[in-house]
Formats: sequence, C-alpha cells, structure tokens
Amino acid sequence: MRYIAGSILIASMSATGTLYAYTSETEMSADQAQMLIKEFATTLQGELKGALKEGGPIGAVQVCKERAPAIAESLSEQSGWEIGRTSLKTRNAETNTPDAWETEVLKQFADRVAAGQSIKTMTYAEVVETDTGKAYRYMKAIPTGEICLACHGVEIDPKLAEAIDKAYPEDSARGYSAGELRGAFTLSKPL
Ligand code: HEC
Repeated sequence: MRYIAGSILIASMSATGTLYAYTSETEMSADQAQMLIKEFATTLQGELKGALKEGGPIGAVQVCKERAPAIAESLSEQSGWEIGRTSLKTRNAETNTPDAWETEVLKQFADRVAAGQSIKTMTYAEVVETDTGKAYRYMKAIPTGEICLACHGVEIDPKLAEAIDKAYPEDSARGYSAGELRGAFTLSKPL
C-alpha cells in the first residue's frame, strides 16, 4: 500500500517541481530499505533459529559467520543496494565496523534509547554526498532479544565462548542484556 502511494507521488512530480519529487523519491527509498531489511532479518532469524535447534549455539556460530554475510550479499546483488549490519561493538570487525556516518547514527540511536524511544521502530535516513555522487543512506536499530543472549550476553557458556574466540579473536559484541541496542541494519543506494 505505502509503496503504491509512493508511486503516485512520483507521478505528480514533474508538475510540482524538484523539491516535491525529491521528497517522494526519498519516501520510496525508505520503503525499499524497509522491505529489504525485513527480508534480511526474516531470512537470518529463520536460519539462526533452525541452526540453534539443530546444532545448539556452537553450531549456530558457524551459520552466523557464513550465512549473515552471504544473505546480505545476495540481497545486495538482487537490489542494487548495499546492505549490511553494524554496531559500536562488533563481532566481525572486518565486515561490520561502522564508517564515520554510521558511527554518528549509532551514537544518535544510543542517545534516543537513553531518552526513552523504542528501539523497535528507530530509524534514520539521509541523502549524503559521496565521491561518486549522491547516495541515500538508511539505518534501522536492532534490539537485543532473549534469543541473542547465548552469543551476545553477559554469561556465555565457556565452550561457546571458546568457539567464538576462535572464529573472532577481536570479538567485542558481548555483555548485552535483553532490550538493549545491539546495533543496526545499514543500507545505501546511489541516487
Ligand atoms: C549462535 C550465536 C549467535 C546468536 C544466537 C546471535 N548472534 Fe549475532 N552474531 C553472531 C556472530 C558469529 C556474528 C558475526 C557474523 C559475521 O561474521 O558477520 C554476529 C553478528 C551480529 C551483528 C553484526 C555486528 C557485529 O557484531 O559484527 C549483529 C547486529 C548481531 N549479531 C545481532 C544479533 C541479534 C539481534 C541476535 C538475536 C536475534 C543475535 N545476533 C544472535 C553470533 C550470534
């Protein structure tokens, strides 16, 4: 429904001028970003739950390691967006370390959480200048749920901690409690 509404706005764009067109294009981009995040999150959560059931958290670490980047990559290829996850405390520092813009948004999210806003609906979008032109960037906060605590919580089973250490010697994504801000989905698309 909202997607259709976006298209109608774009259709009336030429009559109303650039400013209006710009607004509707960002609106449409936000809708696209939300749909992509939903698909990414649903696929990943589904695979995570399946893996936890089948092999417990130690087996599931490998699934997170291989499947999270693979799902992100295939969605990126299909959509023309860049899609990933990031955090101020990363497990996979190589792939998920925030850039300067993402760091600012993550800090802004933390401030908004401290001010009482809901993590579940927290997003931020901006059109930015890049070396190759304008890009639309979008982030959506990720809350820490109960299911996440086995691998990101305060008390991690020693055997599991060993497996995480082995796969991620630089891991700093631990010590979270349920309901805390864990990180964010981060998307961008050239305009
Ligand atoms: C089985 C262990 C496990 C569970 C359970 C788990 N994670 Fe992770 N998480 C990982 C691993 C491993 C990575 C690194 C993935 C990679 O290499 O990209 C990761 C990475 C992440 C990242 C990307 C940023 C970073 O730290 O590198 C976010 C965000 C994240 N997890 C959130 C969650 C949330 C939210 C939940 C609960 C819904 C959850 N995780 C449950 C193991 C787990």
